[in-house]
Amino acid sequence: MRFSIEALVGMIFFSFIVDYLLHKHYKELKEETPATFSFPFGAFWHYSVPAIFVLSFIIFGLLINFAASPGVYVYFQWFITVYLFIYLPKFIYIFTYKMTHNAIKVKNKFEPNGKIKKMNDGRYPKISRKKFLSQIGIFMASLPFVSLLFGVMKGRFNFSVKYNKLAFPNLPKAFEGLKIVQISDLHLGSLNSNYYEMEEAIRIINAEHPDLICFTGDLVNNFAEETIGWESVFGKLQAKHGKYSILGNHDYGDYSKWATPQEKDANLQGVKDAHQRLGFQLLNNESLTLTKGNDTIAIAGVENWGHPPFPQYGDLAKATKGIENIPFKLLLSHDPDHWDSEVTIDYDYDLTLAGHTHGMQFGFDYKGFQWSPAQYKFKRWSGLYREGHQFLYVNRGLGFLGMPARVGMPPEITVIELTQGAISNEPM
Ligand SMILES: [Fe+2]
Repeated sequence: MRFSIEALVGMIFFSFIVDYLLHKHYKELKEETPATFSFPFGAFWHYSVPAIFVLSFIIFGLLINFAASPGVYVYFQWFITVYLFIYLPKFIYIFTYKMTHNAIKVKNKFEPNGKIKKMNDGRYPKISRKKFLSQIGIFMASLPFVSLLFGVMKGRFNFSVKYNKLAFPNLPKAFEGLKIVQISDLHLGSLNSNYYEMEEAIRIINAEHPDLICFTGDLVNNFAEETIGWESVFGKLQAKHGKYSILGNHDYGDYSKWATPQEKDANLQGVKDAHQRLGFQLLNNESLTLTKGNDTIAIAGVENWGHPPFPQYGDLAKATKGIENIPFKLLLSHDPDHWDSEVTIDYDYDLTLAGHTHGMQFGFDYKGFQWSPAQYKFKRWSGLYREGHQFLYVNRGLGFLGMPARVGMPPEITVIELTQGAISNEPM
């Protein structure tokens, strides 16, 4: 999480527009029916609340840059949540009110004979259009409030298992039915001490009896010490042919300023060591082979490779060295952009597993229909993609970052079964 001037300007602009429109609307309503009760301190809230948020955002932005421990991230994510709890309903309220008000104003103003329409024929208690629409607005505004509340209370640990069966003509016979479980983006610092909730994810994974478990990066938000205490949780993961992992963009300590380069290096080494402590074999621009009977497949893992501002530490040429002639190859690469930029162009990896997008922790996923703002930011943001004989699977992450919530975009555990056959994907 890097302090971003764009995010600050965006937040100020968004808050200003929402508060300005609401203030105007509130005045109009008040003129129409003066309130018998007015909120203590009146207009004070209109100016002070946004000012408090803007000031806090600047302070957090500066603190995160110079943070030497993960605590500030945890406070920041709750700050973001409080902001969203206040401003999302406000935005939806005024948006609904303005849209319906304008639409009804144009459509219902006149009778067919040109006379101004009478809005109430006397059968119902009198309620002005403004008041009626403001009640619709209040109802609509309660929806993001309730959704976000669910996303914080339940959604962020409401694990979803996604099943895929992929067929490859070149899958060696001995590996027929190989079951891979993929997890991604744990962001342990955000999980803080929710060990109990994550134990449930471990139980779900083990119940699948996977052959391989692949973790595709972002173990931490920024600091190696975020991993302390998680050994006993992830140590319970079981896979017949091993548990493999890679680094993600958050694992390099790039999101804060370090007193010395040595301190930053020590932090990175701490993150690398943590993979081993938690039971994963880290593939850092390297590969290994798995042999069953006379058959062999390869698994390669690269360091983070993304488009700027994300780092390009990944060295696929190095990782692929020595496995060029293995008939079936699996690649772990954190950022799905890497697949289009290098993997499908110069390499013949049959299946690439990626993460990184989090599905922006917000969207819809219902009966095969998926939508998230993530799709406007990332070309490959969730699920399965295919180019020729190569597949990419993008996992939406098991943890969370920024807001401690997942709304309509639950934490994901991916199960992929491999089979031999004409290249295809089918439900498992
Ligand atoms: Fe991530």
